[in-house]
Parts: sequence; C-alpha cells; structure tokens
Amino acid sequence: MTLGKNYNHLRSDIDQLLIKRLEISKFPATLIDAIKYIFINKGKKVRAILLAESCALFDVEYTKILNVALALECVHSYSLIHDDLPAMDDDDYRRGELTLHKKYDEATAILAGDALISLAFELISGDEALSAGSRLQLINNLAVYSGGNGMVGGQILDLGLKPAEASIESIREMQQMKTGDLFCFAFTAGPIIAGYGSDDQDKLFEFGKLFGLVFQISDDLIDVESTLAEAGKYVNKDQNMDKATYVDHYGIKKAKKLMLSYIEESKVVLEKYGSKAQPLIGLCESLSSRKS
Ligand code: IPE
Ligand code: IPE
Ligand code: MG
Ligand code: MG
Ligand code: MG
Repeated sequence: MTLGKNYNHLRSDIDQLLIKRLEISKFPATLIDAIKYIFINKGKKVRAILLAESCALFDVEYTKILNVALALECVHSYSLIHDDLPAMDDDDYRRGELTLHKKYDEATAILAGDALISLAFELISGDEALSAGSRLQLINNLAVYSGGNGMVGGQILDLGLKPAEASIESIREMQQMKTGDLFCFAFTAGPIIAGYGSDDQDKLFEFGKLFGLVFQISDDLIDVESTLAEAGKYVNKDQNMDKATYVDHYGIKKAKKLMLSYIEESKVVLEKYGSKAQPLIGLCESLSSRKS
C-alpha cells in the first residue's frame, strides 16, 4: 500500500462535505474562496485516511466518520496555513501552489486559519450521528492535542530549538507534539466513536505518537532529498532556517535507520489486533518511501 493511491473516494467525500458546509454558512465570500483554495483537491488528507482506518478497526460505519475526519483536516490545514506565514517558516509554496498568504494576504491567511479551527469544533459538536459522550470526548481530545499541550506547543518548541543545543530527547518531544498529537486524535477516534474503553484508546494513542515521529522524520527526509515539484513545497528549508531535526542530528543514514526501527516498534503496539490492524501498519510502513 502506498500513501495516496487507494483513498480518492474518501478525499472526495471530505471535499464535498466542506463545500456543502461552506455553502450553507454565512462566511463572507473571501473567506470561502480562501478556504476552498487551500483545501479542495489539495493535500494528501492522510489524517482523514488514518481516522477512517482506525474507525474500520473498531467496526464503525463509514458514514459516521466524515464530519470528524473533515474536522481533523480543517485543524491540520489551519496549522499549515499558519506554519507558512512569514513570522513562522515563511514559505511561498504549499500543496503544489502558492501559500495562502502569497495568493491572498497575511490577514486573510490568519483569519482563514482561525475560521477552520472554529469550524472543526462546530462539525464535531453538531454531529448527531455520534453519541453525546463521544462528541464530548472528541472535542476535548481535539482541543488538547491541537493546543498548547499538543500541536501548538510543539510548534513553539520548534521555533526555539536550535541544532547546536538540541538533545535528541528535545527533538523527539517537539516532533511528537507538533506532528504526533494530531495523529493521536485520528487514531483514538476509532475506539472513542465505537465506545471502547481506555485500554484500546491508550494503544491507539501510543501508535499515534510513533506514527507521528515516523511521519515527521520522513517529512524531514523529504526536505533534504526531494524537490519542490515532487513535494509541493520548498525543500532544503530546515537547514536554511536552522531547524533541529533527526536528519540534522544524526545524518540521513542513521535517521532512516531510526525511522525503520520506530516502524517496527509501532507494529508491536498493535499486535493484539492481529491482521485487522494491517491497513494501519501498511500505512505506517509506506511512510519510509514517501516522496511527498
Ligand atoms: C505536512 O503535513 C506537515 C507535517 C506535519 C510534516 P502533510 O504532509 O500531511 O501535508 P498535506 O496535508 O498532505 O499537505
Ligand atoms: C510543521 O512541520 C508541523 C505542523 C504542525 C504544521 P514543518 O514546518 O516541517 O512542515 P512543512 O515541512 O512546512 O510541511
Ligand atoms: Mg514548521
Ligand atoms: Mg513548515
Ligand atoms: Mg518540514
């Protein structure tokens, strides 16, 4: 299985759901245009795919997951819009085209990101296909994993961490927060929606932290080994911006070796689910060869 080959139906369903939500909203036209520009037919939508596979592992019907999957992709897209701003990574390309602040302007990019966060919570809280208990837990997890304890916290650590003084523990913590925590939301959504308890949620959380680490190491490898055309975003940014990464810390060869060892570790975490966990494991394995 390779990332991006078998999930076009899900990607299209997520896009159509967002278009419908925007149509019935009272969002001003500029905001709608900006959100559609960065989201529709763009991005791999990996987090939605992982959430769908986590739900499949716990036998949740596909129709029940779309609002939550869209909510997660909204938060992820906001994180990228803000990550690209001049005050952060200052990037001109994202998802194969100009970043939102380049296409529009910085204020529009900031506000489109803000609107996507709020929309995410609206989507989950208003989803009547889910029990009130599941909704509350998902909302709480999304708040925790995307905020100062999670993605935003990791992003601020990323800004402050310089290769010269960074320990591998500090790099790992930063990467698991900035990238891993949103994956943890995706993976724990399955047991939460299906009504399973903390044992299963903890297992999927643990898998999410490792998946996030593997995903970020593969992103950092793309930064040194890929091209703008292939990756859809500038490459060689991490060194230019003096970013602390596994690749910078260990070199390409050892970073790849560690990535493979984290993939093996992640398989052990899901052992109790047997062959039913194969789609999730296959997606994790496919990260080591991804080019975008
Ligand atoms: C990029 O995420 C940011 C990281 C966490 C490394 P993706 O590689 O999933 O980006 P899109 O959504 O496909 O554009
Ligand atoms: C971003 O990491 C992680 C986020 C939480 C957005 P990067 O800064 O490495 O992501 P890219 O390379 O710009 O996609
Ligand atoms: Mg960044
Ligand atoms: Mg960046
Ligand atoms: Mg990167």
